Amino acid sequence: MKLAIIGSGMIVHDFLTITKDLKNTELTAIIGTKRSLDTLQELKAQYQIGAVYTDFETALLDSDFDTVYVAVPNFLHYGFAKKALENGKNVISEKPFTVKYSEFLDLKRIALEKRLILLEAITNQYLQNYLDLKKKLPELGDLKLIESNYSQYSSRYDAFEAGKVLPAFDPKKGGGALMDINIYNVHFIVGLLGRPQSVQYLPNIEREIDTSGILMLDYGNTKAVAIGAKDSASPIGKTVLQGNKGTIVVNGPTNVMSSFDVYDKDKKLLEKVDHNIYPHRMYQEFVEFEQIIQKNDLVGVAQRLQHSEDVMWVVDQALKSADLQLG
Ligand SMILES: NC(=O)c1ccc[n+]([C@@H]2O[C@H](COP(=O)([O-])OP(=O)(O)OC[C@H]3O[C@@H](n4cnc5c(N)ncnc54)[C@H](OP(=O)(O)O)[C@@H]3O)[C@@H](O)[C@H]2O)c1
Repeated sequence: MKLAIIGSGMIVHDFLTITKDLKNTELTAIIGTKRSLDTLQELKAQYQIGAVYTDFETALLDSDFDTVYVAVPNFLHYGFAKKALENGKNVISEKPFTVKYSEFLDLKRIALEKRLILLEAITNQYLQNYLDLKKKLPELGDLKLIESNYSQYSSRYDAFEAGKVLPAFDPKKGGGALMDINIYNVHFIVGLLGRPQSVQYLPNIEREIDTSGILMLDYGNTKAVAIGAKDSASPIGKTVLQGNKGTIVVNGPTNVMSSFDVYDKDKKLLEKVDHNIYPHRMYQEFVEFEQIIQKNDLVGVAQRLQHSEDVMWVVDQALKSADLQLG
């Protein structure tokens, strides 16, 4: 794919480190703000990116890319993704796909109409450990409980406490613990079980934003809880899946899934699994994106979009249940 990256922040710096190993990706352009021009030029030189732009319109007219990677703060995903699709470009959007469910549905409609590829960059759905865990799930028998905790004290929370509100804590910009960190747990659970019957979110709210919270998903015979915090830490990010015949413990947070252990119901360790094929969590998703785009695999995209839609629906229900307004 011929890729244009929008953004030059933390995740773009992280992503660029794997691009040397993405054999079918050409870094055609990077687009950012005027205030970040020096950073954009540095990244261009370091990673041999074709061109720098501080205006998306100009990039669309001037540069020859087929796919846009939207890696800006959450509230900007929709606008950039929409403009890209309207101009005939495929889109890979960072998580969360959009702030509002209606925005997601609009993007999906445009992509379907134009037969373009629209995908969410969400690491766990592509990791080999996750795919293997999915296959092992029936071994747990009747799945009773899932508990997934990803809590990481954020340096941006210090700024928030000091009165400076960065996008990750700004309700108008689609920030908060659910959107930023707990979303990985939501993807993890929804990727296994689909849409739940009911959703309830119990957030800790400071200055109109959820700095941490507990999300409860009721699947009838399976109950799931997703915990996410940016105002406090859990030393070990952990997910436990409990069935009447066994238990799986995922080691590390749900965006990385560094390994998982399978136990029988008497807590005897049966197997330790680590089949992730590349050290960086973003590699497997981008290799798959390369293939989807190369093959123009619209059927595969439709499945991925259904998953993202289910996640967006859960988020929408969660925010409503807590009377939280974002965006
Ligand atoms: N997949 C993952 O593992 C992962 C991890 C972290 C974050 N993310 C997601 O990635 C996205 C970005 O997060 P981040 O941590 O990289 O944020 P960040 O460090 O704050 O970077 C945001 C970038 O967007 C740029 N930007 C802001 N407004 C723009 C505009 N109008 N046009 C072009 N560029 C603009 C910013 O430029 P200025 O600095 O000049 O404002 C900055 O370069 C978020 O949606 C987040 O949820 C994903």
